[in-house]
Amino acid sequence: MATAKILVLPGDGIGPEVTTQASEALRRVAQRFGHDFRFEEALMGGVAIDRTGEPLPADTLRRGEQADAILMGAVGGPKWSDPNASVRPEQGLLQIRQHFGLFANLRPVKAWPALVQHAPLRPDLLEGVDMLFVRELTGGIYFGERQEAGSGDSAYDTMFYSADEVKRVTDVAFRAAQGRRGKLASIDKANVLASMRLWRRTVMTLAEGYGDVEVEHLLVDAAAMHLLTRPADFDVIVAGNMFADILSDEASVLAGSLGMLPSASLGTGTFGIYEPIHGSAPDIAGKGIANPIGMILSAALLLRYSLQLEAEAQALEEAVTRALDGGARTADIAPPGMAAMRTEEMAQAIFDQL
Ligand code: IPM
Ligand code: MN
Repeated sequence: MATAKILVLPGDGIGPEVTTQASEALRRVAQRFGHDFRFEEALMGGVAIDRTGEPLPADTLRRGEQADAILMGAVGGPKWSDPNASVRPEQGLLQIRQHFGLFANLRPVKAWPALVQHAPLRPDLLEGVDMLFVRELTGGIYFGERQEAGSGDSAYDTMFYSADEVKRVTDVAFRAAQGRRGKLASIDKANVLASMRLWRRTVMTLAEGYGDVEVEHLLVDAAAMHLLTRPADFDVIVAGNMFADILSDEASVLAGSLGMLPSASLGTGTFGIYEPIHGSAPDIAGKGIANPIGMILSAALLLRYSLQLEAEAQALEEAVTRALDGGARTADIAPPGMAAMRTEEMAQAIFDQL
């Protein structure tokens, strides 16, 4: 029997709707496998700004430090998007990643057989699509020195990487490739950017220690195209913070919807933050129609990486696959003319398969 303390940060928009279902999924897994999971909730994002003035209150960090893992919904929304605002929900997200040293963000992307017929790309291109993005999460242009415009008319951001930052995330990617199909694509912009020439040189040096992994180096612009023209070729993809952010949203088209994709943010230990890669979707918030799958699959990653409960993680992932095979569809993945399920109904269809 495993015991675990899980901190839930529902956040903004559809965040609370999907975290409710993911917590319920974990409760059911605990019940079925005889584990004891304790849940706590705390504030983060726009809702935290409204109540405390800060996107990431100290109380939330303290509770996170006492937890084994954090399950996070989404942050942000139009209410807090004024470009002149001094505090933003997204700052809380960047702070919490940095606070816990979560430098490796794993984003698995696959094409579900049940969904390829109605995907935006040709079904034959999608066959066998199964890739893992490893996104550098605590460095790069997100965390480099910046100058806001203030009342002036110029501003800048800095893309900075040290070899150590590149090395530790690339190590995670190489090891993941060894456990998968043995292929790694490293994405950079080495033809233009100094930080990206360091990136490529570091990956090339590291590759010497992983003779069993086949490595390709792609410029980010070309990679954006290759992801759509030969998606099934990719196995593990490692990239810096911003490039991987952009490419993983692009890759969500392969999965059928942004609402399908989970993520795990990890550091050197087992603690992690688990969140879907989608945002707070303010346009559909409060309607009960959001797709809970990205969040529920994030809960499966929590079982796998923070709690080392592989069988439980697979049980939950298989329940999602079987629900999809059985025809369960929320609006974002329903073919035209089909009556779509609500968030709760989709979650129930998954729980029924568990
Ligand atoms: C993500 C999001 C965040 C990011 C935003 C909300 C700051 O897009 O997790 O992918 O850019 O990292
Ligand atoms: Mn993103």
